Amino acid sequence: AMSFGFHPKAQKQNQISRKNFQPQASYKVAILGAAGGIGQPLALLIKMSPLVSALHLYDIANVKGVTADLSHCNTPSQTLDFTGASELGSCLKGVDVVVIPAGVPRKPGMTRDDLFNINANIVKSLVEAVADNCPDAFIHIISNPVNSTVPIAAEVLKKKGVYDPKKLFGVTTLDVVRANTFVAQKKNLRIIDVDVPVIGGHAGITILPLLSKTKPLVSFTDEEIQELTVRIQNAGTEVVEAKAGAGSATLSMAYAAARFVESSLRAIDGDSDVYECCFVESELTELPFFASRVKLGKKGVEAVISSDLQGLSEYEQKALEALKPELKASIDKGIAFANKQA
Ligand code: NAD
Ligand code: LMR
Repeated sequence: AMSFGFHPKAQKQNQISRKNFQPQASYKVAILGAAGGIGQPLALLIKMSPLVSALHLYDIANVKGVTADLSHCNTPSQTLDFTGASELGSCLKGVDVVVIPAGVPRKPGMTRDDLFNINANIVKSLVEAVADNCPDAFIHIISNPVNSTVPIAAEVLKKKGVYDPKKLFGVTTLDVVRANTFVAQKKNLRIIDVDVPVIGGHAGITILPLLSKTKPLVSFTDEEIQELTVRIQNAGTEVVEAKAGAGSATLSMAYAAARFVESSLRAIDGDSDVYECCFVESELTELPFFASRVKLGKKGVEAVISSDLQGLSEYEQKALEALKPELKASIDKGIAFANKQA
């Protein structure tokens, strides 16, 4: 199994265990918003990845210091800094995966949708540059509200004539990471064994953990289902309130985003057993975008896993119907924003 190589010994082991794959992994990853609360720890985690040869860090400020600092870690990848719009194009040339955590985070009392006005414009302009410079890259959108920023990105890419729905992802890995953690704690399970699919979207009730599909098979009381579902849906707010004005989840988010990057790179590298939940263009429901488990391959989404939606519990079926109007409104808001602009 491949892992992040925190020690040169582990890095050597990674190379040995990779002998069935391509000779030398040398993928390029760009982070847009790299000097931020998520961007910095995410850059550190990706710097540890044995699959990465170049890490391109972009922000509107403060990215030179972050890059100088990170570049002293003796892991294989080279780190390069890019500041401001004039350097964005060269940041993006030739990259395989672009991760976008640029934008403002919530403060207590705000919803993710309250970030729309600022973050919609940021995502729009960054994705325009992605379309112009690396249209074949996997695009990982972290900036909130994900339920709207992903549809915005899709519209921007369509206008540029380079939209590939298989390569545009809203990052919902943190919802799975949280669900796995909370379920393992509640049921006293070994954390590495637990996997809970989380579907729908990434805000409030649109986040729907499918506890009935938890691996390994576990049974929950109705009270446990209610309590766990609500905790997973409100976990972002739990962190926002604990940080009390200093922002939202950054460390757990960086961890989750690094996992999604590593999964994407493994898929690009030819591993045929990579599955992740993410928010993608989808025909699973009547909504144009929907988060579910997908199989990742060299060209992006290889298959959307529909079996998770079969045999839902009554609770999950009701919650699924209840989330659709809110998710649809957020998707429509993103599409309308992208199309009202010239
Ligand atoms: P932050 O304010 O600490 O960092 C954001 C960074 O973006 C800053 O360094 C800022 O300079 C940069 N930035 C702003 N405009 C930019 C532009 N035009 N181009 C490039 N960079 C730009 O915020 P954070 O805590 O890192 O959160 C970032 C975003 O991620 C927020 O919108 C937050 O809501 C979202 N988020 C999403 C998830 C998820 O699960 N998808 C989880 C946590 C946070
Ligand atoms: C999260 O789920 O932690 C993020 O979407 C940030 C937030 O605003 O809650």
